Amino acid sequence: MRLGYVLGGLFVTVALFSVSCEKKEEKAEAPPKKEVKEVQKVQEKKQVSEEYALADKKGCFACHDIDRKKVGPAYVDVAKKYAGKENAVDELVKSITKGSMGKWGSIPMTPQPVTEEEARKLAEWILSLK
Ligand code: HEC
Repeated sequence: MRLGYVLGGLFVTVALFSVSCEKKEEKAEAPPKKEVKEVQKVQEKKQVSEEYALADKKGCFACHDIDRKKVGPAYVDVAKKYAGKENAVDELVKSITKGSMGKWGSIPMTPQPVTEEEARKLAEWILSLK
């Protein structure tokens, strides 16, 4: 019985101690504003690479490159052509999901196996590449 109390007391003490330690750590780790910006930058880059990975997975790079014409136009050229156009994203989503022909040359692009949502992500990413 007594031992139970002692152990119980010890447990509570340890628990309280670790809680107070955690709090201290949190405070110590709260990053200054500059570091928050760095973290955001890294996240932005990750966002970009996620979309790059999606394009890679979907086979877009078989015919496209970021900055070089292959079978299809370079993505930077697509971004330049559509810069400032109002319905650019919608138009590219349509090209990606339904196919496109006659806009860049004589080779058509067949409808790509992506969902509307994926196509939107890819279109927004392509347009951001200029
Ligand atoms: C088999 C080759 C091929 C593949 C694979 C391919 N494309 Fe294309 N893509 C083309 C060609 C060719 C064109 C030019 C079509 C034209 O002249 O209208 C084109 C055009 C485009 C355009 C410009 C459309 C416009 O309206 O101006 C975008 C954006 C695009 N592709 C994105 C993608 C994405 C994203 C993927 C992957 C999901 C992809 N393409 C996969 C060949 C391909």
